Amino acid sequence: MFFKILALVSLLAVSAYGQGTSFVYNGFTLGKLSLDGMAWVTHDGLLKLTNDSRMEKGHAFHPDPVQFKNSPNGSVFSFSTTFVFAIRAQYPTLSGHGIVFVVAPRRGLPGSLPGQYLGMFNETNNGNSTNHVFGVELDTLLSSEFRDINDNHVGIDLNGLTSANKTCTYKVNKW
Ligand SMILES: *[C@@H]1O[C@H](CO)[C@@H](O)[C@H](O)[C@H]1NC(C)=O
Ligand SMILES: *[C@@H]1O[C@H](CO)[C@@H](O)[C@H](O)[C@H]1NC(C)=O
Ligand SMILES: *[C@@H]1O[C@H](CO)[C@@H](O)[C@H](O)[C@H]1NC(C)=O
Ligand SMILES: *[C@@H]1O[C@H](CO)[C@@H](O)[C@H](O)[C@H]1NC(C)=O
Ligand SMILES: *[C@@H]1O[C@H](CO)[C@@H](O)[C@H](O)[C@H]1NC(C)=O
Repeated sequence: MFFKILALVSLLAVSAYGQGTSFVYNGFTLGKLSLDGMAWVTHDGLLKLTNDSRMEKGHAFHPDPVQFKNSPNGSVFSFSTTFVFAIRAQYPTLSGHGIVFVVAPRRGLPGSLPGQYLGMFNETNNGNSTNHVFGVELDTLLSSEFRDINDNHVGIDLNGLTSANKTCTYKVNKW
């Protein structure tokens, strides 16, 4: 049984150094982002990715491609991003799976599944190096098939959900 998380993002800023791309969303209004699935923007400008419906996903993509290299064999630019978010579970002790900041070759991540797949991959393409997908997952539920260390951790996902680097663990404040 998986209850989806409700996530609100109120600010997102991304800069790629060396190339000069940078953008800031100081609140969202409908039409600025490319949305799919359950994602929508509330009347007061918050991005909401899912609601309490089970096994659903939502994506919000910056509408324009961001260049990360000067040439196919060039080195990848460093970048930084800041975003403000909240995750609210329907029940304090049982939540959905989390949210991911993702860099992908195209919008929408077609074929991706909700639940433990976090709207990034599916059982066939998970771990495939041809995905070219990078993500920073903010996980809130242990998925043993992806060797999660616990419920609440940050993981670096390179083409798959078995995170290469599982870093800090965070405490979820129960609302
Ligand atoms: C979630 O949103 C969908 C689409 O708007 C709606 O049909 C559904 O009833 C909502 N579910 C809950 C539990 O609010
Ligand atoms: C880029 O790297 C590939 C694989 O190493 C090589 O075949 C190709 O010639 C390189 N292209 C350039 C423009 O250096
Ligand atoms: C998994 O995702 C890939 C990539 O988008 C897609 O081509 C494939 O059809 C999907 N597989 C399933 C079983 O949905
Ligand atoms: C996985 O990668 C191979 C090439 O390495 C590709 O041919 C295949 O279509 C990919 N499979 C999926 C499901 O994406
Ligand atoms: C992160 O994961 C990569 C790939 O598994 C590994 O090469 C690297 O050493 C890891 N870095 C840290 C800081 O653990």
